[in-house]
Amino acid sequence: MRTKVGIIGGGPSGLMLSQLLDLKGIDNVVLERQSREYVLGRIRAGVLEHGFAELMREAQCGARMDAEGEIHDGFYIAENNKKMRVDLAAHTGGNSVVVYGQTELTRDLYAARDKMGGTVIHNAEDVKPHDLKTDAPYLTYRAGDEIIRIDCDFIIGADGFHGVSRKSIPGDVLTEYEKVYPFGWLGVLSRTKPVSPELIYAKSPRGFALCSLRSQALSRYYIQVPLSDSVDDWSDDAFWDELKARLPDDVAARLETGPSIEKSIAPLRSFVAEPMRYGKLFLAGDAAHIVPPTGARGLNSAASDIYYLYHGLVDHYLNGDDAGLDSYSQKALARVWKAQRFSWWMTSLLHNFPDAIPYDQKLQQTDLEYLFSSEAAMTSLAENYVGLPF
Ligand code: APR
Ligand code: PHB
Repeated sequence: MRTKVGIIGGGPSGLMLSQLLDLKGIDNVVLERQSREYVLGRIRAGVLEHGFAELMREAQCGARMDAEGEIHDGFYIAENNKKMRVDLAAHTGGNSVVVYGQTELTRDLYAARDKMGGTVIHNAEDVKPHDLKTDAPYLTYRAGDEIIRIDCDFIIGADGFHGVSRKSIPGDVLTEYEKVYPFGWLGVLSRTKPVSPELIYAKSPRGFALCSLRSQALSRYYIQVPLSDSVDDWSDDAFWDELKARLPDDVAARLETGPSIEKSIAPLRSFVAEPMRYGKLFLAGDAAHIVPPTGARGLNSAASDIYYLYHGLVDHYLNGDDAGLDSYSQKALARVWKAQRFSWWMTSLLHNFPDAIPYDQKLQQTDLEYLFSSEAAMTSLAENYVGLPF
């Protein structure tokens, strides 16, 4: 088989790039290790920045997002029975975010690939990129007993944090920067009315909590837990009690509880791999970088990679210009690090750090007080939360 662009990974990054390239007549193949049911069964975050929503529209996948997603032009930060609103629109010249589940967005991208007759190969085992430093790179994968080869011009590693792409860059070329936080988030999805129409990020002496939503009938809540906890340690009742204890009294009193339909723990990690290009291989999304979920940046830093790669590949194929591809790693990393900084900052502001000394706690408190007493600080939070320009 031969294609122009071989894409490893059928998550949001890989599918979005595949769809955008196909719309420009650039043929590509997506290789996904899992089944479609498995990919669409993963519960992921649900806040899309303005720029990502625009990319969905450009990919002709935005109709359901626009019909069913909710525009949010603010959210709350709560502490000590106080709720303070972050007015995103007022501090960004009218910008906002879209609350729309990443699972739904992936479903829309698959539907769009199907409609255009795009090639997405599921259950592709042992995917391997080869000859990345030559002009004839190729991919192999196994389907049953058969090894299949796909010759390509370029290979895109959009296969998430645990994928094979980053691992195929030699260790003396790649530098990895990592920060692991000493806690995780326990998340619960429930078919209950959300406690607040807008998100509430809550700082409390018992630890961080987040009230989010997927729709007006589907809530998503999180609490900070020690890394040693497992899902089995948390009955639904225990989860609801702990969540209430971390929220302002009036919010806790209104909280509608019900059976969890999904419950999982995710560790918090910041990670960046540099460079994001090795020969004919380009890394994108979680394959190259991850953020803790506090600033809702995960999908959004993937979006800027896809934007730069898409334009670089279009310039290569349609205009014979390689400047975009040649500057990809540098440009993508500049924005990646800004999302890293913001996610680290919001995580540091709102969580309980088990090893914090009293001095650290005072600084954290001061940071929050400064935020709500300074228009400049609030503008900085708002512009980062809605997303810096690509
Ligand atoms: N071969 C083929 N596919 C693979 C391989 C492999 N060796 N390893 C992983 N994959 C697939 C995974 O099954 C997954 O479907 O690659 C896909 C990667 O998707 P994601 O992990 O969702 O990463 P990405 O598409 O970059 O999405 C960006 O935004 O909100 C954040 O972390 C969240 O996943 C989200 C991310
Ligand atoms: C979510 O709804 O899952 C969500 C929202 C905002 C975040 C993280 C997760 O910052």
